[in-house]
Amino acid sequence: MTTTELKGRHVVIVAGTSGIGRKLAQDAVDQGAEVTITGRRADAVQAVADSIEGSVQTAVVDLGNEESIAELARQCGVVDHLISLANAPAKGPVESLEREAVTCAFDAKVIGPLLLVKHLRPTASVTLFSGIVAWRPRPGMAVTATTNGAVAFLAEALAVELAPVRVNAVSPGIVDSGAWDGLGVAKDKLFADAAAKNPARRIGTTDDISAAVLSAITNPFLTGTVLHLDGGARLV
Ligand SMILES: NC(=O)c1ccc[n+]([C@@H]2O[C@H](COP(=O)([O-])OP(=O)(O)OC[C@H]3O[C@@H](n4cnc5c(N)ncnc54)[C@H](OP(=O)(O)O)[C@@H]3O)[C@@H](O)[C@H]2O)c1
Repeated sequence: MTTTELKGRHVVIVAGTSGIGRKLAQDAVDQGAEVTITGRRADAVQAVADSIEGSVQTAVVDLGNEESIAELARQCGVVDHLISLANAPAKGPVESLEREAVTCAFDAKVIGPLLLVKHLRPTASVTLFSGIVAWRPRPGMAVTATTNGAVAFLAEALAVELAPVRVNAVSPGIVDSGAWDGLGVAKDKLFADAAAKNPARRIGTTDDISAAVLSAITNPFLTGTVLHLDGGARLV
């Protein structure tokens, strides 16, 4: 057997209100999984659930609050696959950084996922979201680079400690997930420049990321690694 099926498996998608999270939830439902998506606000997570064809459970969790993670575990019961997409970037030059924002960034990407594993105890796989900035740092992105880099090392360490539960990290490059929509017209230039430069000559889509994640969580020989879903952008 080279893949495990998602049919009937419980997939918990933390911070599933993002563009990538929503696509993952839809694709997992389409493959027959039982899906729970979480967000920090009940109305936001319910709106995403309502937009999905098929049935998903919803829950509210803030990765900066361990009690809310423990409550999620009580609501979820058995969790087969855990995917965490949470991201609270603290950007800006080092001299402008506020301790609270830095702490929130680590809560979302590093401390929160550790506590999710502690309380939810997934039985099959854990997938954490890193990002290309860890491998291509830029001024003003020290915290983002560090949290994303920590995710890669956390995946390796947890793969050893939680074995045979498999643990991997996913590192997207620029993906049209909705996260960039606030840039307005500058988004088009950012995307065009990125696509012109990277070896794949395109930016990523939520389909690209979802397909790779679902392939990773159903591949029983894949653990302790980083899937670079960046169109080769970290190489140029
Ligand atoms: N899109 C890209 O181009 C790109 C590039 C590199 C890496 N990535 C990574 O891919 C993942 C998904 O990206 P995306 O663009 O789809 O989403 P995103 O816009 O980065 O959204 C991430 C989500 O994290 C949630 N969040 C923040 N702090 C949280 C906390 N303390 N507890 C729980 N949830 C929290 C937010 O939920 P609320 O609705 O509750 O605020 C938000 O929906 C992220 O980890 C991101 O860093 C994305």
